[in-house]
Amino acid sequence: MNTVVKGLTGLRDWVDDRFPLLQLWNDHMGKYYAPKNFNFWYYFGVLSMVVLAMQILTGIWLTMSYKPDAAFAFGSVEYIMRDVEWGWLIRYMHSTGASFFFIVVYLHMFRAMLYGSYKKPRELIWVLGMFIYLSLMAEAFFGYLLPWGQMSYWGAQVIISLFGAIPFVGETLSLWIRGDYVVSDITLNRFFAFHVIALPFAIAGLVGLHIIALHEVGSNNPDGVEIKNHKDADGKPLDGIPFHPYYTLKDSVGVLVFLIVFSVVVFFAPEFGGYFLEHNNFIPANPLATPEHIAPVWYFTPFYSILRANTVNFFWIPAKLWGVIFMGLGTMILFLLPWLDRSPVKSIRYRGNIYKIALGLFVVAFLILGYLGILPPTPARTIVAQICTVVYFLFFILMPFYTKWDKTKPVPERVTGK
Ligand code: HEM
Repeated sequence: MNTVVKGLTGLRDWVDDRFPLLQLWNDHMGKYYAPKNFNFWYYFGVLSMVVLAMQILTGIWLTMSYKPDAAFAFGSVEYIMRDVEWGWLIRYMHSTGASFFFIVVYLHMFRAMLYGSYKKPRELIWVLGMFIYLSLMAEAFFGYLLPWGQMSYWGAQVIISLFGAIPFVGETLSLWIRGDYVVSDITLNRFFAFHVIALPFAIAGLVGLHIIALHEVGSNNPDGVEIKNHKDADGKPLDGIPFHPYYTLKDSVGVLVFLIVFSVVVFFAPEFGGYFLEHNNFIPANPLATPEHIAPVWYFTPFYSILRANTVNFFWIPAKLWGVIFMGLGTMILFLLPWLDRSPVKSIRYRGNIYKIALGLFVVAFLILGYLGILPPTPARTIVAQICTVVYFLFFILMPFYTKWDKTKPVPERVTGK
């Protein structure tokens, strides 16, 4: 035993003389001081990392048996499900993983809104997070075409044709994205390339930058106070604890609970009633038969609802183009959050009622938009979607005003430990 430990220590020292191994470990783990009051909401960053790792691993194994060819793609997924050893598990982990990725990332983003984690000096962490979010949406969109089912095919057809609404260049742009006049084998091949190579690289790289930026300024916390303002004689934050072993241990409990919930879904409800894997996608793509109702997967539906809520031609711009503009603005406006929020305090604990009501209305509007986006539109549903779209945008547009007027409570000097 002693020789093994001695050997390993020797190896570590050998590497450390040639590479900043210990320094990296200390900077990001052993001597990275995180606030001692992290709560439930602080699990979702590490959970996003766990899901990212799982998606990459299961993705590699799926690629070993999947065929990116319009003639074989659907059949190869069936082959994975029925004939490849444990193929059904790998596929269900990957498809359920996609939905869970969005669940944990949405909760992670909501945490930032609860505790003002995007505010100075963490604006760049948020902006990098937004690039991750956009890349994740692209990754999910490209991946959804690969099983080559009816929803894969027609979903891609609808979304790509949206680019056609852009004046002058739209049609050429859609043609360029598809590589053909309709979604075809060429489209499938390029989506495969993006899904398995370009975007995973981009996401992994962005996550690295996200963490570097976070560790440069230090983590925020549920009280929204800067722990770096109160240090002991050795320069260690008084309200900070080393990430390792305290949070590595605490996070592993969160990861375990997450894996239990995830397993329940994978083993007992992988299609999740058609929300995670749509029923129509068990039918092979047929370019000659359009499904009656085409809807994207749930994580895109809030923005899809905003798109459909635009029903009037206004000025010289047709409704469809308004829809595309508002759908784009709906995601892009999130980038501006750090600069729209003018509140002197970060955490919701010390904000006034106006922000609490505004955030509550925003969440309700976002959830209703998401629900409506799954359903086929009716005149009544369109009106509700229009109201929720207005609430969604007003939350951001009015933010500079209501966050300034809101009556805030005094923020404690040190974290409260709750
Ligand atoms: C693959 C996706 C992502 C991964 C793996 C990831 C990872 C992490 C980790 C590990 C942390 C530190 C632990 C924590 O605070 O929970 C963190 C913090 C943070 N993330 Fe992310 N993140 C992702 C996406 C996003 C997105 C989409 C946004 C926002 C648009 C975002 C915004 C933030 C912010 C503002 C913080 C600082 C939080 C604080 O200190 O209170 N992240 N992220």
